Amino acid sequence: MIDSDTPMRHHKKPIISPLRYPGGKASLYTRLREIVRANDLTGGTYVEPYAGGAGAALGLLVTGQVRRIVINDLDPAIYAFWKAITTEPQEITRRIERAELTVTEWSRQKDVYLNAPRDDYLNLGYATFFLNRTNRSGVLNGGPIGGMDQTGNYKIDARFNRETLIERLRLISLHAKKISVSNSDGMSVIKRYSKRDNTLIYADPPYFEKAGSLYLNSFADSNHSDLAACLNAVKDAKWLLTYDNVPRVADLYNMRRREVFSLNYSAHRVTKANEVMVFSDALTVV
Ligand SMILES: C[S@@+](CC[C@H](N)C(=O)[O-])C[C@H]1O[C@@H](n2cnc3c(N)ncnc32)[C@H](O)[C@@H]1O
Repeated sequence: MIDSDTPMRHHKKPIISPLRYPGGKASLYTRLREIVRANDLTGGTYVEPYAGGAGAALGLLVTGQVRRIVINDLDPAIYAFWKAITTEPQEITRRIERAELTVTEWSRQKDVYLNAPRDDYLNLGYATFFLNRTNRSGVLNGGPIGGMDQTGNYKIDARFNRETLIERLRLISLHAKKISVSNSDGMSVIKRYSKRDNTLIYADPPYFEKAGSLYLNSFADSNHSDLAACLNAVKDAKWLLTYDNVPRVADLYNMRRREVFSLNYSAHRVTKANEVMVFSDALTVV
């Protein structure tokens, strides 16, 4: 099944992010919505310091579960994308309408992605989006769907449904004033927002064992322990964290409540709980 990100098909959850993100957390929407309500944060701010595709954040905003969201990512290309679609949605929409879905255009966008100035957020952001929608699995350093010779079963346009993507952009642009986009280190965002009331932080940092080929996705061991020190120091703020379920997480967060879960839950299949959630002490968990 190629079009697994058709809105509502699998999870009956709003799929609003225009980015494909392997390991994306849009499917946590229902759980996060319950947590927002149980913590009385409906009029509050929801912060993703490691946003990537920001699937859950957009779902919560567009359905009115929270009043404001913060999308932060250290990767300049991902940042450029969020900045471009929140400040210039008409121009990105125009480019999507006219996009040539060919290997020649793919090579041109790849060149922009690699060489555009990092602050040229319109061109860099659009190139990031184009490659995310036309590359195998959305991996920015990968090749196009169908291969350079386009002999695969699926072709370069398989994930570029203009209508669906433009509709997602329209929804986001309606809410753009309520979205803050930034390009900082995740820990500085955690420090800043943990001081504020009425705020929920959801941290989804690069995992311990997941392939490092995705975006700017590498986290050295010291990054994991620094993040733990940062989050454990603000246990009285409202935050939650997800990771791959490895023993090191239990180690770093041994004083916090934890719960294992499976992202690819299916009623028809036995799935292993290979992810873990960690909760701050102040958070009411439901
Ligand atoms: C696991 S992904 C997040 C996936 C996301 N929750 C989703 O649903 O699409 C982690 C993200 O963190 C970003 N990142 C890596 N190191 C970072 C850092 N030090 N500060 C902020 N973001 C960082 C990566 O660029 C990547 O987009």
